[in-house]
Amino acid sequence: MVASIIGISEDPSLISNSLFINPFKIFPFQSNFFNYKNLLKRESKHSLSMGSYGQQVVVITGCSQGGIGHALAKEFAANNCLVVATSRSVDSMRDLEQDHRFYLQELDVLSEENIQHVMSNVLEKFGRVDILVNNSGIQCVAPLAEVPLSAVHKTFDTNLYGPLRLIQAAVPHMASRRKGKIVNVGSVTVMAPTPWAGVYTATKSALHSLSDTLRLELKPLGIDVINVVPGAIQSNIGNSAVASYNQMPEWKLYKPFEAAIRERAYFSQRNKSTPTDEFAKNTVSAILKKNPPAWFSTGRYSTIMSIMYHLPICIKDFIIRKVFMS
Ligand SMILES: NC(=O)c1ccc[n+]([C@@H]2O[C@H](COP(=O)([O-])OP(=O)(O)OC[C@H]3O[C@@H](n4cnc5c(N)ncnc54)[C@H](OP(=O)(O)O)[C@@H]3O)[C@@H](O)[C@H]2O)c1
Repeated sequence: MVASIIGISEDPSLISNSLFINPFKIFPFQSNFFNYKNLLKRESKHSLSMGSYGQQVVVITGCSQGGIGHALAKEFAANNCLVVATSRSVDSMRDLEQDHRFYLQELDVLSEENIQHVMSNVLEKFGRVDILVNNSGIQCVAPLAEVPLSAVHKTFDTNLYGPLRLIQAAVPHMASRRKGKIVNVGSVTVMAPTPWAGVYTATKSALHSLSDTLRLELKPLGIDVINVVPGAIQSNIGNSAVASYNQMPEWKLYKPFEAAIRERAYFSQRNKSTPTDEFAKNTVSAILKKNPPAWFSTGRYSTIMSIMYHLPICIKDFIIRKVFMS
């Protein structure tokens, strides 16, 4: 009876898993954060009263219009999901406002308080989070030897600690239902790092690594982890990167490379980058699979970058120098 109210009996495989492993015995701290009685109240009150029982609730960060998050939000909605579209400002998602499939929330991934507030609103409204998509991210274009450390901190805070904050907020809830998917948006640049984007690539490498560990650690709790690895996708990332680049100090050693460094900010937006909605269609289809892939890469250059990853270092460096340093 209780299990059917909170939706556990919906999936028989989850019951059979729980016969072998009891996650609360392995991770007893989860029960501190998560109040089981509150969940039961919320699940029964909201899932049933909203008539949305069969729909998956998806929380996405960084949904400003023109970017990947926005396209993912629309594609999840087109696949019968209830979408919590978040961004730093609701103004950047105004076009979704009148559509009942979207619940808009302002969320800055740098603020733990803000994240807790949004999670609490979502649980209050829907009673559950089925899928968390850590999409928000910023580029940081600069030579490593001269980049201000404040810019390094900000990029790690946004691209790595931000997703981890959201994961820590969502996992206790997902674990209580033995069900959920966490999607981290990485980057193909990790496969063959280029000059001038070392900070960004380091954050995405760390995020990939974090996803690999999470996949193992969250499996016993019934949560899937999917590392989405975009190639070059049309978005606002180039313009945002240049805006940040304009705040950088004048380079001392790298003045001769000024044009090449600035151009790196736009690299993903040149040469027929993949349309955002095409990327979103393929990615959402992979995420919604019953057994989603651990690694999903699509978009311009994703194949080339996989090949580059396996090349001998001297050949890889030769190609990259030709493209980015001359
Ligand atoms: N486009 C590509 O070619 C490409 C390739 C590989 C990986 N990616 C990754 O894909 C993801 C989406 O990027 P995009 O290409 O769609 O770029 P985008 O258009 O610039 O979108 C980035 C989103 O992240 C948001 N954001 C930035 N800082 C934030 C913060 N502190 N809190 C909450 N949201 C924040 C931005 O909000 P504002 O609008 O308020 O700035 C925006 O909504 C990123 O993780 C990026 O690294 C993109």
